[in-house]
Formats: sequence, structure tokens, C-alpha cells
Amino acid sequence: MAGEKVLIGESDKKVQKQLRRYLEERGYVVYAYSDLHDIIDFLHEKEVDILLLSTNVSNGNGTIVLKSIRNNGIAVDVIMISDHENAEEIISAMKLGAFDYLIHPFPNARLSLAVKNCIERKRLIIENIELRKRADIQETIVGESQEIKTLKESIELVAKTNSRILVLGENGTGKELIARAIHRKSERAGGPFIEVNCAAIPPNLIENELFGHTKGAFTGAVNEQKGKFMRANGGTLFLDEIGDMTLETQAKVLHAIEDGTFQKVGSTNAIHVDTRIITATNKNLIEEMRAGRFREDLYYRLNVVTIHVPPLRARISDVPILVNHFFRYFCRKYSLPLKSLETEAIHSLMRYSWPGNVRELKNLIEKLIIMTSSQKISKDKLMSIWERKTKMPKMSEKVQISQELNRGLKEAKEEFERDLIQKILEKNDWNVAKSAKDLKIARTYLYKKIQIYNLAKI
Ligand SMILES: Nc1ncnc2c1ncn2[C@@H]1O[C@H](COP(=O)(O)OP(=O)(O)OP(=O)(O)O)[C@@H](O)[C@H]1O
Ligand SMILES: [Mg+2]
Repeated sequence: MAGEKVLIGESDKKVQKQLRRYLEERGYVVYAYSDLHDIIDFLHEKEVDILLLSTNVSNGNGTIVLKSIRNNGIAVDVIMISDHENAEEIISAMKLGAFDYLIHPFPNARLSLAVKNCIERKRLIIENIELRKRADIQETIVGESQEIKTLKESIELVAKTNSRILVLGENGTGKELIARAIHRKSERAGGPFIEVNCAAIPPNLIENELFGHTKGAFTGAVNEQKGKFMRANGGTLFLDEIGDMTLETQAKVLHAIEDGTFQKVGSTNAIHVDTRIITATNKNLIEEMRAGRFREDLYYRLNVVTIHVPPLRARISDVPILVNHFFRYFCRKYSLPLKSLETEAIHSLMRYSWPGNVRELKNLIEKLIIMTSSQKISKDKLMSIWERKTKMPKMSEKVQISQELNRGLKEAKEEFERDLIQKILEKNDWNVAKSAKDLKIARTYLYKKIQIYNLAKI
């Protein structure tokens, strides 16, 4: 630790000199004044990290300086120094915000420790503020398109209620972000937000995860454990990837939702909790129900209000704002000066279909920030780093021929269709409306094809 600025306020010149020498030897930048007015004036003019303030200052005392700091909102940490121990004086200094209090004679190590602790506390506070800012940025739903405006309106409306919500959308569209926003804007904001990824938990463990277990419920259950339903009491339970639950778990979740009660594994006692349930999936639940993989009764219980999150390609006008947002976020995260993309590069991003949606864009921006050194990133640089999911891997001629022989008419047709769509889109500079007209298909159908074939501007 070095380079931090310390101001000494002390009328005794000998003590002042000793303190100055000790701190300068340890790499601190030191200023020193004896007079009350000089100390206060200096604090108004210059920023220092620490004020080492003696109760003895000319034309006043340390308490007057402390009060002035407080009243003027000056950001400095104060360590008081006194030549006598007076409990009242110490308490009053601490109440006025002094960080520590040293009483003469004190060993140098005590001074050193006080200064170090003070700086460490300041560092932690700054770090905390930074983290909070970053979390805030990360939780904002960014976008100015009509689609996002409508989405935000829906969030405001449903947040006020207690109703169950089903969030539907492709991968990476922001379903979790939306679930969190609903919780934050609801009356339950002070309560917990508990997330369960139903796809990530093995079916034989999910019941335990959701409802908890009693001690001795099964081998290895040495302690009683709360499940996620219970942890979400007074808050929101976010069941993500709900389309991936087994039918068996679906039955149990249905029961818990219907009655508002459940039992821990190994117990027959009914537990009641006050939890709002928000669910999300990228699966088409109607199709899942038709195929017998999702319970109809559960679908209707969960789906009181549905929020559809549009894919990024359907709100491509949001790309520039999202790009700026992610540049700000990652540059702050990596403590780098703010970078940006040249307009031409942003246009290239707007001509892509984004099968991985906002997450894919976010990952690309993070990669760009890490892998570029200049502050303005050109289109060429972007293209050299951007690995779009559209390019077919190169294969050897032999493999290619054997694959040609193996593939059927359907695949050949698909390849023809993909090439034709790509050509028409290129011809029209990726104007989707015009290309749809040329191809004599509906625009929405063309968007679907772009997604299916993962097409992008070459
Ligand atoms: N509109 C948006 N504004 C800002 N960031 C966004 C937006 N939409 C998504 N993101 C960010 O993109 C990432 C993916 O979002 P999120 O995890 O909410 O998507 P998801 O729909 O739950 O995806 P998956 O289905 O793959 O789980 C997150 O880091 C999120 O913060
Ligand atoms: Mg998710």
C-alpha cells in the first residue's frame, strides 16, 4: 500500500515531524498543518484519504475540525490523536465519525495498523459500491423497441399482483432477467428470490431440492434440510426450464401449488408457505402437452399470465443500445477505458439473426473487449474475432462425397433452400421485407427460415 494521501493536523511541531517522517518512509504522501483554519481550508481544496487529527490544533481543537468535516460532507477518514484519555471526548469523536482514536504515547505499529485498517475499509466500501453498480447494470432490461416497451409495461402490471406467471421465450432472450424484475418491483421485493433450474437437477433429487427432507429421511440425510419452496417463503420462487421436469415431479409441484402445502421428504406433516411462483421455459408447452410430456392441469395452474419474450432478431433495433450497454458493463468490470464499435460494425451486428439472442450478443461483446486493444473497434476487427454460428465446418473431400451419397432428397432440398435464401438476402443487402417479396413468402416465415438455417450476412 503506498501513495495514499494523509493530512496531519497537529499543533506540536515535533510530533508533526515524527508522524510525517514515519508515514513518508512507508510510502504515504503526507501534508501537515498546525492551524485549524489551514486544516479546514486544505480539506476543502484537496482530496486526502486520511486525516490524522490531534485534539491539539492552533486556534481551536480537533472536535471543531471534525464537526466542520461532518457539516460540509467532506469525504475523508479521520484518525484522532490525543495526549490524554478522556472517555467522553473519545465517544464524541466516534459519534462524529472518527474511524479510530490513538492516545499518546502509542507504538508506531499501532499507528501503522490504524492507517492500514482505515485504507482497507475505504477500499472495501468502494469495491462494494462498484459491485452494486455492476449488479444494477446487469439487472436492467435494456431496449427501446416497441416489443421491449410492451414487455416492460406488462412487467409493471403483473408485478403488483400475486399471480403466477409463465415466461416464454427462446434461449438467451432474458427470461430470468424478467423474472427478477417482476420480483424486484413487487411487494415481495424485500423477501428472497429463489431460483431452481429444473433441467439441471436429476429427477431423483428434484423433490428433495424443492421440498427439503427430514433428518434420516434417506441414507445420508444427517440433518434436516429446507427445500427451495420453504426458502422462498415471503418471496418469489422461480422455476426455470419448467418444460424439462419429469411427469412425476410435475405431479408433486402441481399438488404443492394447488394446496399451497407440501411435505418434506420423509415427513407427513403438511407445510404451508407464502410463495409467488414464476416459471419459464424455452419449450413449446402446448406441443409438450400434446406429446404427453407436460401435464395439462399443471400448465393451466402455472399459466395465469403469460409473458412472451421476443427473440432479438424481432427487435433488431435494440442491438445498438444493447451493444453500448454491454460495452459499459464489461469495461467497468475489467477496469478498462470505455470502448465502442464503429457504426459500420454495428450495422453488421444488426444484419445477423442472433440464434442465441441477447446472451450471444453479450458474449461477443465481452470477447471483443478482451481481445482488442484500441478504443474504437472497426468492422474488420469485429469480423476477425466474431465466430458466427452460421459457417459450416470445412470437411475433407472424401467425407464430403460419402455424405453426398448418403443424404436424401429432404436434405438436398433444404440445402438448396438455404442457399437460395442466403443469395436473395445478400442481393437485397439483408432487407428482409424485400427478400420475402422476392421469395414470395411471408416475412415472418422468412425470419423463421433465417433462424432455422442460422443465416447471417457473409
Ligand atoms: N433486454 C436485456 N437487457 C440487458 N441484458 C439482457 C437483456 N436480455 C437479456 N440480457 C442478458 O443476457 C443474458 C441472458 O439472459 P437470461 O439469462 O435472462 O436469458 P434466459 O431467457 O433465461 O436464457 P436461457 O433460456 O438460456 O436460460 C443475461 O446475462 C442477461 O442479463
Ligand atoms: Mg434462463
